[in-house]
Amino acid sequence: MKNFNYKNPTKILFGKGEIQNLSNEIPQKSRILMLYGGGSIKQNGVYKQVIEALKEYEIVEFGGISANPEYEILLEAIDVIKREKLDYILAVGGGSVIDGAKFISAGVKYTGEEPWQLLSKRLEIKDAVPIATVLTLPATGSEMNSGAVISRRATKEKLSFGSPLLYPQVSVLDPSFVASLPKRQITNGIIDAFVHTLEQYMTFPAGGLLQDRFSEGILQTLKEVGVRVLENPTDYEAAANFMWCCTLALNGLVAQGVPTDWGVHAIGHELTALFGIDHARTLAIVAPAYYQHCFENKKLKLAQYAQRVWNVTTGTIDEKATQGIRKTEEFFKSLGCNTKLSDYTEDYAGTAEKIAERFRHRKWLGLGERKSVTPNDVEIILKNTY
Ligand code: NZQ
Ligand code: ZN
Repeated sequence: MKNFNYKNPTKILFGKGEIQNLSNEIPQKSRILMLYGGGSIKQNGVYKQVIEALKEYEIVEFGGISANPEYEILLEAIDVIKREKLDYILAVGGGSVIDGAKFISAGVKYTGEEPWQLLSKRLEIKDAVPIATVLTLPATGSEMNSGAVISRRATKEKLSFGSPLLYPQVSVLDPSFVASLPKRQITNGIIDAFVHTLEQYMTFPAGGLLQDRFSEGILQTLKEVGVRVLENPTDYEAAANFMWCCTLALNGLVAQGVPTDWGVHAIGHELTALFGIDHARTLAIVAPAYYQHCFENKKLKLAQYAQRVWNVTTGTIDEKATQGIRKTEEFFKSLGCNTKLSDYTEDYAGTAEKIAERFRHRKWLGLGERKSVTPNDVEIILKNTY
C-alpha cells in the first residue's frame, strides 16, 4: 500500500428530516446565496423545507443552473454574490448545482483575468466562499469531495478542477428526496457511482486489500439496491443505501493508498462536451471499450472483480476478466442505458480523431494508472464505441 494523507472535512447530516439541523451548522448571520437547478425542488417540496429550515437567515436565490453547469451562468451568480455582499453558498440539487457552487465559491475570490483559467490552466485556488449542500440526486459524490466539472457551451469544453478549499462544510443527505427522481436520473446515478468505484479499483493489484473490499462492497450494494430504487424510488431503505454508496464512491476513501485511473471520465467528459450526452451515459459508452483496450494491464483486477462482484468462479484469469467486462456492460443495459455512441448520435464519425487531437493539444499524453493510454489509444477506444 502506498503512503497517504487523508482528510475529508465535510460533515454529513444523513437521514429523513435532517435538513432541520442545517441551521446548527451554517454560521448565524451568514448571508446566503441559495443555488438551485431547473425547478424540481419547487415541485417535490425540497425548496419549502430549505426555506423553513433557514428562516432565520438572509437568503438570495439563484435558480437555473442546468445539467452540466454552464460557465456563463455561473459568472452571473458570481456577480450576484459580489453585488449583494453574500458570504455563504447553499447548493440545493444534484452534482451540477453542487459543482456550480464550487466554481462560484472559487470564482468570487479569484482576482486574475478570466475565471475560466481556474480550469484551463488549473490555477491554484487560494481562497473560497464556504459551501453547504442539500443533495437531491445521489450520483456524483460532489457533496463530499473537493472537485467539480464545468462546461462552456461556446467552445464545447468541459473541464474539471478542485481544491481542498472546496469541500462542502456540511451536506444534508435525505434519502426521501430520491422519491421524485425520474428513472433516467436514477439510472445515471447508479452508473456514475459504479464507474467512480471502478476508476479507483480497476488498475492492478497493489496490496490495498481493504480498499478493494470497500470498492467491491459499494459495487455489490449498488447492484443490489439499484434495481430496487428503479422499481420503487420511495423504498427508503434502498434509497438510503443507494445514496450512501454514491457518496462513499467518490469521497476519497476507496482511493487512499492505491493507484487510480480516471481515463473513462476523461474521455466521457468529451462526449458530453461534444454531444450533450448525460455524464453517466458517456461512462457506460466508454468503460467497456476502455477496459477491453487496457485488458493486459487490468486483467488481474478484472478477474478479481468478476469473481467477487459477479460470482464468476470458473475459467482462466483471461476468461474471468472478459466476463467481468461483459457483465458490466450487461448491467448498464439492464438499467436501461445504451452503451454505444451510435445509440445517442448519428454524427459520431470523426469523434475519435477529434477527441484524440484535443488530448494531444492539452498534452494529455498518458492516461491511466500507468500513464500508458496515449491519444492514439484513445482514438482506438472511441472507434470501438461506435
Ligand atoms: O435542475 P433540476 O430541476 O433540479 O432537475 C435535475 C436535473 O434536470 C434533476 N433532479 C435532481 N434532483 C432531483 C431531480 N429531479 C427530480 N427530483 C429530484 N430529487 O436531475 C437532473 C440532472 O441533475 P444533475 O445535477 O445534472 O445530475 P448529476 O447529479 O448526475 O450531476 C451531473 C454533473 O456532475 C458532474 C458531471 O460531469 C455533470 O456535470 N460530475 C461531478 C463530479 C464531482 N464533482 O465529483 C464527478 C462526476 O464524475 C461528474 O463528472
Ligand atoms: Zn462521474
